[in-house]
Amino acid sequence: MPSARDVVAGQARAIAHAWSPPGAPEGWWLTAATFAAIAEHDELLDLAVAVPSDRLPPLLLAAAVGYLAPGTALGRHYPRPGGPQPPRDPGFGAELAAFAREHAPALAALCAGHRYQMNEVGRCADVLPVLATIAAGDHRPLAVVDLGTGAGLTLGLDRYHYTYLAPDGSTRSVGDPASPVRLECPVRTGAPPVPAAVPVVVDRVGVDVEPLDLGDPATHAWLAACVPPEAGAVTRFAAAAELARENPARSVRGDLLAVLTDVVASIPPDVLPCLVDTYVHVFLPPADLERFDRLLDGLGRDVEWVSVDPLVPLGPEGSRTVQGLDVPPEWVADNRDGGVFGVVGRVSVRDGVRTGTVLGRAHPGAAWLDWTG
Ligand SMILES: C[S@@+](CC[C@H](N)C(=O)[O-])C[C@H]1O[C@@H](n2cnc3c(N)ncnc32)[C@H](O)[C@@H]1O
Repeated sequence: MPSARDVVAGQARAIAHAWSPPGAPEGWWLTAATFAAIAEHDELLDLAVAVPSDRLPPLLLAAAVGYLAPGTALGRHYPRPGGPQPPRDPGFGAELAAFAREHAPALAALCAGHRYQMNEVGRCADVLPVLATIAAGDHRPLAVVDLGTGAGLTLGLDRYHYTYLAPDGSTRSVGDPASPVRLECPVRTGAPPVPAAVPVVVDRVGVDVEPLDLGDPATHAWLAACVPPEAGAVTRFAAAAELARENPARSVRGDLLAVLTDVVASIPPDVLPCLVDTYVHVFLPPADLERFDRLLDGLGRDVEWVSVDPLVPLGPEGSRTVQGLDVPPEWVADNRDGGVFGVVGRVSVRDGVRTGTVLGRAHPGAAWLDWTG
Protein backbone atom coordinates (compact mmCIF):
# COMPACT_ATOMS: atom_id res chain seq x y z
CA MET A 1 0.00 0.00 0.00
CA PRO A 2 1.67 3.29 -1.07
CA SER A 3 1.96 6.03 1.54
CA ALA A 4 -0.06 9.25 1.25
CA ARG A 5 3.19 11.03 0.31
CA ASP A 6 3.83 8.58 -2.51
CA VAL A 7 0.27 9.00 -3.79
CA VAL A 8 0.43 12.80 -3.83
CA ALA A 9 3.92 12.78 -5.35
CA GLY A 10 2.63 10.42 -8.07
CA GLN A 11 -0.31 12.72 -8.75
CA ALA A 12 2.02 15.71 -9.06
CA ARG A 13 4.30 13.84 -11.50
CA ALA A 14 1.26 12.73 -13.53
CA ILE A 15 0.00 16.32 -13.79
CA ALA A 16 3.45 17.56 -14.84
CA HIS A 17 3.57 14.86 -17.48
CA ALA A 18 0.04 15.45 -18.73
CA TRP A 19 0.39 19.19 -19.15
CA SER A 20 3.98 19.20 -20.25
CA PRO A 21 5.08 15.87 -21.75
CA PRO A 22 8.40 15.63 -23.61
CA GLY A 23 8.14 17.83 -26.70
CA ALA A 24 5.54 20.16 -25.19
CA PRO A 25 5.80 23.83 -26.12
CA GLU A 26 8.55 25.54 -24.11
CA GLY A 27 6.02 27.79 -22.38
CA TRP A 28 4.81 24.87 -20.26
CA TRP A 29 8.16 24.50 -18.48
CA LEU A 30 7.03 26.41 -15.39
CA THR A 31 3.90 24.29 -14.99
CA ALA A 32 5.95 21.09 -15.28
CA ALA A 33 8.65 22.42 -12.95
CA THR A 34 6.04 23.38 -10.33
CA PHE A 35 4.50 19.91 -10.17
CA ALA A 36 7.90 18.20 -10.37
CA ALA A 37 9.02 20.30 -7.38
CA ILE A 38 5.87 19.36 -5.45
CA ALA A 39 6.74 15.69 -6.05
CA GLU A 40 10.39 16.08 -5.10
CA HIS A 41 10.74 18.58 -2.25
CA ASP A 42 9.63 17.76 1.30
CA GLU A 43 8.63 21.35 2.05
CA LEU A 44 6.06 21.23 -0.74
CA LEU A 45 5.01 17.63 -0.24
CA ASP A 46 4.34 18.31 3.46
CA LEU A 47 1.87 21.04 2.46
CA ALA A 48 0.23 18.98 -0.28
CA VAL A 49 -0.20 15.89 1.88
CA ALA A 50 -2.06 17.97 4.48
CA VAL A 51 -4.78 18.74 1.88
CA PRO A 52 -7.71 16.26 1.91
CA SER A 53 -7.26 13.89 -1.03
CA ASP A 54 -10.61 14.82 -2.63
CA ARG A 55 -9.47 18.45 -2.97
CA LEU A 56 -6.79 17.75 -5.60
CA PRO A 57 -3.73 18.43 -3.37
CA PRO A 58 -1.00 19.17 -5.98
CA LEU A 59 -3.29 21.40 -8.06
CA LEU A 60 -4.57 23.28 -5.00
CA LEU A 61 -1.03 23.85 -3.72
CA ALA A 62 0.20 25.04 -7.14
CA ALA A 63 -2.69 27.54 -7.21
CA ALA A 64 -1.82 28.77 -3.70
CA VAL A 65 1.79 29.30 -4.82
CA GLY A 66 0.62 31.17 -7.92
CA TYR A 67 -1.62 33.34 -5.73
CA LEU A 68 1.19 34.35 -3.36
CA ALA A 69 4.07 34.57 -5.85
CA PRO A 70 3.31 37.96 -7.46
CA GLY A 71 5.00 40.68 -5.46
CA THR A 72 7.69 38.30 -4.20
CA ALA A 73 11.02 37.41 -5.82
CA LEU A 74 9.47 34.15 -7.05
CA GLY A 75 6.95 36.19 -9.04
CA ARG A 76 9.56 36.97 -11.69
CA HIS A 77 9.11 33.44 -13.08
CA TYR A 78 5.37 33.88 -13.64
CA PRO A 79 3.89 35.27 -16.88
CA ARG A 80 1.51 38.24 -16.75
CA PRO A 81 -1.53 38.63 -19.05
CA GLY A 82 -0.34 39.75 -22.47
CA GLY A 83 3.31 39.30 -21.49
CA PRO A 84 5.96 36.75 -22.48
CA GLN A 85 6.81 33.51 -20.72
CA PRO A 86 9.81 34.21 -18.48
CA PRO A 87 12.70 31.96 -19.53
CA ARG A 88 13.32 28.51 -18.11
CA ASP A 89 15.34 28.56 -14.88
CA PRO A 90 16.87 25.27 -13.71
CA GLY A 91 17.00 26.65 -10.16
CA PHE A 92 13.22 27.16 -9.98
CA GLY A 93 12.43 23.94 -8.07
CA ALA A 94 14.87 24.70 -5.25
CA GLU A 95 13.65 28.30 -5.12
CA LEU A 96 10.04 27.13 -4.91
CA ALA A 97 10.92 24.77 -2.06
CA ALA A 98 12.57 27.65 -0.15
CA PHE A 99 9.48 29.80 -0.85
CA ALA A 100 7.26 27.04 0.56
CA ARG A 101 9.41 26.86 3.71
CA GLU A 102 9.18 30.62 4.20
CA HIS A 103 5.47 30.92 3.44
CA ALA A 104 4.21 27.58 4.77
CA PRO A 105 1.49 28.99 7.10
CA ALA A 106 0.09 31.30 4.40
CA LEU A 107 0.12 28.51 1.78
CA ALA A 108 -1.60 26.12 4.20
CA ALA A 109 -4.26 28.76 4.95
CA LEU A 110 -4.90 29.35 1.25
CA CYS A 111 -5.27 25.61 0.65
CA ALA A 112 -7.65 25.30 3.61
CA GLY A 113 -9.81 28.19 2.44
CA HIS A 114 -10.14 27.47 -1.27
CA ARG A 115 -11.04 24.81 -3.80
CA TYR A 116 -9.05 24.28 -6.96
CA GLN A 117 -11.12 25.81 -9.78
CA MET A 118 -9.76 25.45 -13.27
CA ASN A 119 -11.41 27.54 -15.99
CA GLU A 120 -9.75 26.81 -19.33
CA VAL A 121 -11.38 28.94 -22.01
CA GLY A 122 -9.09 27.31 -24.59
CA ARG A 123 -11.36 24.24 -24.45
CA CYS A 124 -13.85 26.26 -26.50
CA ALA A 125 -11.58 25.48 -29.47
CA ASP A 126 -12.37 21.78 -28.89
CA VAL A 127 -16.11 22.44 -28.62
CA LEU A 128 -16.51 24.82 -31.56
CA PRO A 129 -16.01 22.25 -34.37
CA VAL A 130 -18.61 20.02 -32.70
CA LEU A 131 -21.13 22.86 -32.47
CA ALA A 132 -20.37 23.71 -36.11
CA THR A 133 -21.11 20.11 -37.11
CA ILE A 134 -24.35 20.18 -35.14
CA ALA A 135 -25.40 23.50 -36.71
CA ALA A 136 -24.58 22.24 -40.21
CA GLY A 137 -26.88 19.25 -39.77
CA ASP A 138 -29.83 20.89 -38.02
CA HIS A 139 -31.98 23.82 -39.06
CA ARG A 140 -32.82 24.86 -35.47
CA PRO A 141 -31.04 27.67 -33.63
CA LEU A 142 -28.75 26.50 -30.84
CA ALA A 143 -28.76 27.10 -27.10
CA VAL A 144 -25.65 26.37 -25.06
CA VAL A 145 -26.21 24.84 -21.63
CA ASP A 146 -22.80 24.74 -20.01
CA LEU A 147 -22.82 22.13 -17.26
CA GLY A 148 -20.21 22.76 -14.56
CA THR A 149 -19.62 26.19 -16.03
CA GLY A 150 -17.43 27.55 -13.22
CA ALA A 151 -16.82 31.18 -14.12
CA GLY A 152 -18.91 30.78 -17.29
CA LEU A 153 -16.13 31.31 -19.83
CA THR A 154 -17.46 28.64 -22.21
CA LEU A 155 -20.75 30.56 -22.41
CA GLY A 156 -18.97 33.25 -24.45
CA LEU A 157 -17.72 30.82 -27.08
CA ASP A 158 -19.42 32.67 -29.94
CA ARG A 159 -17.63 35.90 -28.97
CA TYR A 160 -14.09 34.60 -29.38
CA HIS A 161 -11.67 34.47 -32.29
CA TYR A 162 -10.26 31.05 -33.18
CA THR A 163 -7.20 30.07 -35.20
CA TYR A 164 -6.53 26.40 -35.95
CA LEU A 165 -2.89 25.73 -36.86
CA ALA A 166 -2.33 22.67 -39.07
CA PRO A 167 0.90 20.61 -38.91
CA ASP A 168 1.85 21.91 -42.40
CA GLY A 169 1.82 25.47 -41.05
CA SER A 170 -1.48 26.50 -42.68
CA THR A 171 -4.10 28.21 -40.56
CA ARG A 172 -7.88 28.51 -40.56
CA SER A 173 -9.56 31.23 -38.54
CA VAL A 174 -13.13 31.97 -37.55
CA GLY A 175 -14.93 34.26 -35.13
CA ASP A 176 -14.94 37.93 -34.27
CA PRO A 177 -11.67 39.36 -35.65
CA ALA A 178 -11.88 42.16 -33.06
CA SER A 179 -12.42 39.82 -30.11
CA PRO A 180 -10.00 40.34 -27.22
CA VAL A 181 -10.09 36.55 -26.69
CA ARG A 182 -7.75 34.95 -29.24
CA LEU A 183 -7.72 31.16 -29.08
CA GLU A 184 -4.95 29.41 -30.99
CA CYS A 185 -5.37 25.69 -31.37
CA PRO A 186 -2.49 23.63 -32.77
CA VAL A 187 -3.97 20.63 -34.60
CA ARG A 188 -1.63 17.63 -34.48
CA THR A 189 -3.66 15.23 -36.62
CA GLY A 190 -6.83 15.39 -38.70
CA ALA A 191 -8.78 18.45 -39.75
CA PRO A 192 -11.53 19.73 -37.46
CA PRO A 193 -14.42 21.27 -39.40
CA VAL A 194 -13.77 24.98 -39.00
CA PRO A 195 -16.97 26.73 -40.09
CA ALA A 196 -17.11 29.90 -42.16
CA ALA A 197 -18.82 31.59 -39.20
CA VAL A 198 -19.29 30.70 -35.56
CA PRO A 199 -22.76 29.15 -35.10
CA VAL A 200 -25.38 31.56 -33.78
CA VAL A 201 -26.19 30.94 -30.12
CA VAL A 202 -29.68 32.26 -29.31
CA ASP A 203 -29.76 31.28 -25.64
CA ARG A 204 -27.14 30.36 -23.07
CA VAL A 205 -27.18 29.25 -19.47
CA GLY A 206 -24.51 28.03 -17.10
CA VAL A 207 -25.06 25.46 -14.36
CA ASP A 208 -22.75 24.92 -11.42
CA VAL A 209 -22.89 23.73 -7.83
CA GLU A 210 -20.83 26.80 -7.08
CA PRO A 211 -21.09 29.45 -9.82
CA LEU A 212 -18.19 31.85 -9.63
CA ASP A 213 -18.66 35.61 -9.63
CA LEU A 214 -15.92 37.20 -11.69
CA GLY A 215 -17.07 40.60 -10.44
CA ASP A 216 -15.70 39.73 -7.00
CA PRO A 217 -12.00 40.72 -6.99
CA ALA A 218 -11.04 37.98 -4.51
CA THR A 219 -12.75 35.30 -6.62
CA HIS A 220 -11.14 36.66 -9.76
CA ALA A 221 -7.67 36.66 -8.16
CA TRP A 222 -8.05 33.08 -6.96
CA LEU A 223 -9.30 31.85 -10.35
CA ALA A 224 -6.39 33.59 -12.05
CA ALA A 225 -4.05 31.74 -9.67
CA CYS A 226 -5.63 28.41 -10.67
CA VAL A 227 -4.65 28.99 -14.31
CA PRO A 228 -1.47 27.09 -15.26
CA PRO A 229 1.43 29.58 -15.40
CA GLU A 230 1.75 29.46 -19.18
CA ALA A 231 1.70 32.81 -20.98
CA GLY A 232 -1.07 31.87 -23.44
CA ALA A 233 -3.31 30.40 -20.73
CA VAL A 234 -2.83 33.41 -18.46
CA THR A 235 -3.57 35.87 -21.27
CA ARG A 236 -6.68 34.14 -22.57
CA PHE A 237 -8.10 33.73 -19.05
CA ALA A 238 -7.70 37.44 -18.34
CA ALA A 239 -9.34 38.44 -21.63
CA ALA A 240 -12.21 35.95 -21.33
CA ALA A 241 -12.86 36.88 -17.70
CA GLU A 242 -13.12 40.54 -18.68
CA LEU A 243 -15.53 39.74 -21.52
CA ALA A 244 -17.63 37.53 -19.23
CA ARG A 245 -17.82 40.32 -16.66
CA GLU A 246 -19.10 42.68 -19.36
CA ASN A 247 -21.63 40.13 -20.69
CA PRO A 248 -23.09 38.25 -17.74
CA ALA A 249 -25.04 35.15 -18.74
CA ARG A 250 -27.91 33.35 -17.04
CA SER A 251 -26.58 31.10 -14.33
CA VAL A 252 -28.27 28.38 -12.29
CA ARG A 253 -26.83 27.22 -8.99
CA GLY A 254 -27.30 23.55 -8.35
CA ASP A 255 -26.22 19.99 -8.97
CA LEU A 256 -26.49 19.45 -12.70
CA LEU A 257 -28.38 16.20 -12.11
CA ALA A 258 -30.96 18.01 -10.01
CA VAL A 259 -31.52 21.01 -12.28
CA LEU A 260 -30.96 19.63 -15.79
CA THR A 261 -34.59 18.89 -16.58
CA ASP A 262 -35.85 22.32 -15.51
CA VAL A 263 -33.00 24.15 -17.25
CA VAL A 264 -33.64 22.35 -20.54
CA ALA A 265 -37.38 22.96 -20.16
CA SER A 266 -36.62 26.71 -19.92
CA ILE A 267 -35.26 26.69 -23.48
CA PRO A 268 -37.85 27.45 -26.17
CA PRO A 269 -39.12 24.30 -27.93
CA ASP A 270 -37.93 25.42 -31.37
CA VAL A 271 -34.34 25.76 -30.12
CA LEU A 272 -31.91 22.83 -29.96
CA PRO A 273 -30.28 22.57 -26.50
CA CYS A 274 -26.58 21.74 -26.69
CA LEU A 275 -25.35 20.51 -23.32
CA VAL A 276 -21.66 21.25 -23.06
CA ASP A 277 -19.51 19.57 -20.44
CA THR A 278 -15.79 20.20 -20.30
CA TYR A 279 -13.97 18.40 -17.50
CA VAL A 280 -17.14 17.99 -15.42
CA HIS A 281 -18.65 14.54 -16.03
CA VAL A 282 -15.23 13.02 -15.40
CA PHE A 283 -15.74 13.95 -11.74
CA LEU A 284 -19.19 12.31 -11.47
CA PRO A 285 -19.29 8.92 -9.77
CA PRO A 286 -20.41 6.02 -12.04
CA ALA A 287 -23.91 5.99 -10.52
CA ASP A 288 -24.33 9.69 -11.39
CA LEU A 289 -23.11 9.12 -14.95
CA GLU A 290 -25.83 6.49 -15.29
CA ARG A 291 -28.38 8.89 -13.78
CA PHE A 292 -27.36 11.55 -16.29
CA ASP A 293 -27.93 9.07 -19.13
CA ARG A 294 -31.41 8.35 -17.86
CA LEU A 295 -32.13 12.07 -17.48
CA LEU A 296 -31.01 12.66 -21.05
CA ASP A 297 -33.38 10.00 -22.33
CA GLY A 298 -36.16 11.42 -20.16
CA LEU A 299 -35.93 14.99 -21.44
CA GLY A 300 -38.48 14.14 -24.11
CA ARG A 301 -36.92 16.38 -26.75
CA ASP A 302 -34.05 16.45 -29.18
CA VAL A 303 -30.81 17.37 -27.47
CA GLU A 304 -27.05 17.34 -27.99
CA TRP A 305 -24.37 16.56 -25.43
CA VAL A 306 -20.86 17.74 -26.26
CA SER A 307 -18.26 16.37 -23.90
CA VAL A 308 -14.56 17.09 -23.48
CA ASP A 309 -13.53 14.84 -20.63
CA PRO A 310 -10.67 12.54 -19.69
CA LEU A 311 -11.25 8.81 -19.78
CA VAL A 312 -12.85 7.38 -16.66
CA PRO A 313 -11.96 6.40 -14.05
CA LEU A 314 -9.74 9.51 -13.92
CA GLY A 315 -6.10 8.44 -13.83
CA PRO A 316 -3.94 5.82 -15.52
CA GLU A 317 -6.63 3.12 -15.30
CA GLY A 318 -9.06 5.17 -17.42
CA SER A 319 -10.52 3.18 -20.31
CA ARG A 320 -14.04 4.47 -21.03
CA THR A 321 -15.46 7.81 -22.09
CA VAL A 322 -18.02 9.50 -19.86
CA GLN A 323 -20.43 9.10 -22.79
CA GLY A 324 -19.89 5.34 -22.94
CA LEU A 325 -18.20 5.55 -26.34
CA ASP A 326 -15.28 3.40 -27.52
CA VAL A 327 -11.87 4.98 -28.10
CA PRO A 328 -8.89 3.54 -30.01
CA PRO A 329 -6.84 1.16 -27.82
CA GLU A 330 -3.77 3.37 -28.27
CA TRP A 331 -5.62 6.20 -26.52
CA VAL A 332 -6.12 3.95 -23.49
CA ALA A 333 -2.39 3.16 -23.59
CA ASP A 334 -1.51 6.85 -23.98
CA ASN A 335 -3.73 7.70 -21.01
CA ARG A 336 -1.91 5.07 -18.96
CA ASP A 337 1.60 6.02 -20.03
CA GLY A 338 1.40 9.58 -21.26
CA GLY A 339 -1.04 11.36 -18.98
CA VAL A 340 -4.49 12.80 -19.15
CA PHE A 341 -6.24 14.31 -22.18
CA GLY A 342 -9.83 15.22 -22.97
CA VAL A 343 -11.83 13.03 -25.34
CA VAL A 344 -14.06 15.15 -27.56
CA GLY A 345 -17.39 13.37 -27.96
CA ARG A 346 -20.87 14.06 -29.22
CA VAL A 347 -24.08 12.34 -28.20
CA SER A 348 -27.23 13.26 -30.12
CA VAL A 349 -30.79 12.41 -29.22
CA ARG A 350 -33.24 12.68 -32.10
CA ASP A 351 -36.83 11.48 -31.75
CA GLY A 352 -35.77 9.48 -28.70
CA VAL A 353 -32.93 7.70 -30.53
CA ARG A 354 -29.46 8.19 -29.18
CA THR A 355 -26.26 8.14 -31.27
CA GLY A 356 -22.73 8.89 -30.19
CA THR A 357 -19.41 9.63 -31.85
CA VAL A 358 -15.89 10.23 -30.63
CA LEU A 359 -14.53 13.16 -32.62
CA GLY A 360 -11.07 13.72 -31.23
CA ARG A 361 -8.93 14.29 -28.20
CA ALA A 362 -7.27 17.38 -26.79
CA HIS A 363 -4.61 18.60 -24.39
CA PRO A 364 -6.20 19.67 -21.06
CA GLY A 365 -4.78 23.17 -21.45
CA ALA A 366 -5.55 23.56 -25.17
CA ALA A 367 -1.96 23.02 -26.38
CA TRP A 368 -3.03 20.52 -29.06
CA LEU A 369 -6.02 18.84 -30.71
CA ASP A 370 -6.20 15.51 -32.56
CA TRP A 371 -9.31 15.32 -34.75
CA THR A 372 -10.68 11.94 -35.78
CA GLY A 373 -14.30 12.76 -36.56
C1 LIG B 1 -12.82 21.21 -13.51
S1 LIG B 1 -14.03 22.45 -13.44
C2 LIG B 1 -14.32 22.73 -15.16
C3 LIG B 1 -14.82 24.13 -15.43
C4 LIG B 1 -15.03 24.44 -16.90
N1 LIG B 1 -16.08 23.59 -17.45
C5 LIG B 1 -13.74 24.27 -17.68
O1 LIG B 1 -13.59 23.34 -18.47
O2 LIG B 1 -12.85 25.12 -17.55
C6 LIG B 1 -15.49 21.55 -12.94
C7 LIG B 1 -16.66 22.44 -12.60
O3 LIG B 1 -17.82 21.62 -12.48
C8 LIG B 1 -18.54 21.98 -11.31
N2 LIG B 1 -19.27 20.77 -10.88
C9 LIG B 1 -18.74 19.61 -10.47
N3 LIG B 1 -19.71 18.71 -10.21
C10 LIG B 1 -20.89 19.33 -10.48
C11 LIG B 1 -22.25 18.93 -10.41
N4 LIG B 1 -22.59 17.70 -10.01
N5 LIG B 1 -23.19 19.80 -10.78
C12 LIG B 1 -22.85 21.06 -11.19
N6 LIG B 1 -21.59 21.50 -11.25
C13 LIG B 1 -20.61 20.64 -10.91
C14 LIG B 1 -17.48 22.48 -10.35
O4 LIG B 1 -18.03 23.33 -9.35
C15 LIG B 1 -16.52 23.19 -11.30
O5 LIG B 1 -16.89 24.55 -11.48
